[in-house]
Amino acid sequence: MASLESAVYPAPPEYDVFKKKMRELTNIDLDAYKPQIHRRIHQLMQRWGMKSYDEYYKTIAANPDKLREFLDYLTINVTEFFRNSEKWWELKDRIIPQMYHELGHQRIRLWSAACSTGEEPYSLAILASECHVASPKPVLAVDIDNGVLAKAAEGVYAKRSILNAPKEWMEKYFTEVDANTVKVKKELKDKVKFKHMDLIKDKFESGFDIILCRNVVIYFGADTKAALYKKFLAALRPGGYLMTGATEQIFDYKTLGFESAGPFLYRRPK
Ligand SMILES: C[S@@+](CC[C@H](N)C(=O)[O-])C[C@H]1O[C@@H](n2cnc3c(N)ncnc32)[C@H](O)[C@@H]1O
Repeated sequence: MASLESAVYPAPPEYDVFKKKMRELTNIDLDAYKPQIHRRIHQLMQRWGMKSYDEYYKTIAANPDKLREFLDYLTINVTEFFRNSEKWWELKDRIIPQMYHELGHQRIRLWSAACSTGEEPYSLAILASECHVASPKPVLAVDIDNGVLAKAAEGVYAKRSILNAPKEWMEKYFTEVDANTVKVKKELKDKVKFKHMDLIKDKFESGFDIILCRNVVIYFGADTKAALYKKFLAALRPGGYLMTGATEQIFDYKTLGFESAGPFLYRRPK
């Protein structure tokens, strides 16, 4: 573990056992994350008044609400429709039309890598529909957390999570459940394929035109990040784009084999 974490929290052996058990429970390898994540794990342990890692683990394992609270506290699952909306309008108004022009057709493959509760891949599917994407394949949406994938498959959301979208899209793509809640329409749902995947360990499909990997690598160490970006490069078709989160600049993009295509947007050379 990195020195900052050790300096703040001399980690006892029970913490290693806790991480191992959490990995078995969630598939998440907490050691792949930056030291800050360990600080938050310990903060939450104190907030809940847990006396030992064993008690902490047992509480989380026995109670799905506590597991969700744990992951939410680590901000592991936070998301919304059209998050950082200006990047989405750039995809819609610049990148996708330019891609059609270059390709000479409108069949494009989209991937939301680390899709959390589904807001990002459904946003991609809406964009695909608005841009008349003619892909025979649905948007691929993957995550390591089966809990968020189950929520994503339900497709039920608070209306406020869709505030970034133009008003008319609400009626076009969602049905109202109650005053505050909507459900994704079946036609939109059919345009997304959810799948369990560990981005660090699992093999990727290839031939993607646009991959979104946003707000997941923030906690990964430098080596984990570099290896992941190389896998994304190979998963893109030549000329395809990788979009990262709004704080996730890839400083060594050239070394990794990408071209810059604008802020937080990288391209596999043609
Ligand atoms: C903060 S959410 C990001 C959601 C969406 N991409 C966005 O930007 O709004 C991060 C997601 O990454 C997932 N995740 C973390 N480690 C992962 C891994 N190794 N493989 C796949 N997904 C992972 C978490 O389960 C969580 O749902």
